[in-house]
Amino acid sequence: MSDLDQLVAQATAEFAGIGEAALLEQAKARYLGKNGAVTELLKGLGKLAADERKNAGAAINSAKERIEAALNARREALRQVALDLQLKAEALDITLPGRGLPTGGLHPVTRTLERIEALFRSIGFDVADGPEIEDDFHNFTALNTPENHPARSMHDTFYLENSPGLLLRTHTSPIQVRYMETHKPPIRIIAPGRVYRVDSDATHSPMFHQVEGLWIDENVSFADLKGVFTDFLRNFFEKPDLRTRFRPSFFPFTEPSAEIDMSCVFCEGNGCRVCSHTGWLEIAGSGMVHPNVLKHVGIDSEKYIGFAFGMGPDRLTMLRYGVNDLRLFFDGDLRFLSQFK
Ligand code: PHE
Repeated sequence: MSDLDQLVAQATAEFAGIGEAALLEQAKARYLGKNGAVTELLKGLGKLAADERKNAGAAINSAKERIEAALNARREALRQVALDLQLKAEALDITLPGRGLPTGGLHPVTRTLERIEALFRSIGFDVADGPEIEDDFHNFTALNTPENHPARSMHDTFYLENSPGLLLRTHTSPIQVRYMETHKPPIRIIAPGRVYRVDSDATHSPMFHQVEGLWIDENVSFADLKGVFTDFLRNFFEKPDLRTRFRPSFFPFTEPSAEIDMSCVFCEGNGCRVCSHTGWLEIAGSGMVHPNVLKHVGIDSEKYIGFAFGMGPDRLTMLRYGVNDLRLFFDGDLRFLSQFK
């Protein structure tokens, strides 16, 4: 083996024995650096005779190239080892199932309210709002229920301590009054919201929801009330054959007044446990707006007439989803609520 071949073999062996990039660069200097073995050989070329110089130069350069190749191969090998180590250290098991993000959902009663709003908007009703802390005037007096009127005791009212005249509204009807105080007929609104009464059992919660409806114009009749409300229920429950029944009733702010019943959505009116074997479910109070209410808000009761209703969306939600205890809606138990996502 020539001296040069031996030098290449020696360098290659030395590189192969090095496991660290910095040490490899030091070894490189010993061969290819300013005072490295190969560099020294090249420097010696000058001393050779011209005819020998060419061959010797070519041989040295060839050796230099082979040493460089060995160096680069080793560099690459070390880089690969380092990369493998890093990959192993930072390994990520992408086969593990993800933890997933829990998604929220709308409360079932909110879904019902949105559905009611969409159905009434589609026939030209606006959606109105009002305060949950009401005054006596809007909750009772303007609704033709003066002080000491026996109808006040129909609503077991939460009064605010130390705030005479203020109470938690017992129904959404005060929104009728507030809306008519600020708008002229024709008026077509629904008004969803929370209401409060001193009451609590499987079908009554001290806080529950109502949706008020009000249509005031020059020629609104009881037939319109029947048509609008029956159509609404049929669309809400997606039951074109659903029937309604208007039972005479009493509210101070409507005359005549009626309770609205609908045929039971579970037994189609044949009688079952849900409807107490009557075939009917009570769903809303309603009537033609009393002239005294229109007078309170400055609307000409000779010229304008209309209907109002107040329904229970909590009840509609129970019926639509088959829930049998009203309190489940307001307990905030995720095991119950997450079923509606
Ligand atoms: N506000 C009445 C109640 O809560 C329902 C109702 C509304 C009745 C509108 C007639 C007209 O019982």
